[in-house]
Amino acid sequence: MAGLLKLGVLISGGGSNLQSIIDHIEKGALPARIQIVISNNPDAPGLARAQRHGIACTVVSHRDFSSREEYDSELTRILKDAGAELIVLAGFMRILSGGFLRAFEDRVINIHPALLPSFPGTNVQQAAIDYGVKFSGCTVHFVDEGVDTGPAIIQAAVPVLPDDTADVLAARILRQEHRIYPQAIRYFAEGRIIKKGRHVEITGIGDPDRAVLHNPPLDD
Ligand code: GRF
Repeated sequence: MAGLLKLGVLISGGGSNLQSIIDHIEKGALPARIQIVISNNPDAPGLARAQRHGIACTVVSHRDFSSREEYDSELTRILKDAGAELIVLAGFMRILSGGFLRAFEDRVINIHPALLPSFPGTNVQQAAIDYGVKFSGCTVHFVDEGVDTGPAIIQAAVPVLPDDTADVLAARILRQEHRIYPQAIRYFAEGRIIKKGRHVEITGIGDPDRAVLHNPPLDD
């Protein structure tokens, strides 16, 4: 069996996705190891989650740097020193420069709480409600130089229900984020990802009919 995939996880906030990755690793469901957690925000609650599990973590505040490039080179240095092989953005609220992405080509992934390409950016749960879509969800995707524009790796759809508030929908989506992010990382760890331009193929998937959804459900 191949060794553990070495992760560098970047956060800015609560870190519930970080927690889900930790939990999957600890229960033996994800052959990976978190080498380092970096937060740009010194007050990110996610830092305490890393500490509780004995994971190395550090704060690198963008406020201490005069340009994005300088900030990103410091991130690059720390992640390379830590031996990170896959960079996992887990609620990291910063755009990464081309230099950073080239340093980790095809090795930077993000999770976004909508079914991209619908609703990129922020406040997307409210945007989905306002639009009146019947499904929203979440997307794990490769990061490119655009905002939420990289090739999708896995998506989960959840229904949008008539009385949803943004918070209720966000919580429903987050429950699926916690399932698909560890799954996507597992694809990497198991070498199951084939990326051809915008198209990401996963080898060894199960029955595709299990991925069909309807909302409202069909009558028959
Ligand atoms: C998630 O909704 C994720 O999709 C978005 O930021 C949020 C982070 O939540 N990119 P958490 O910090 O993992 O709890």
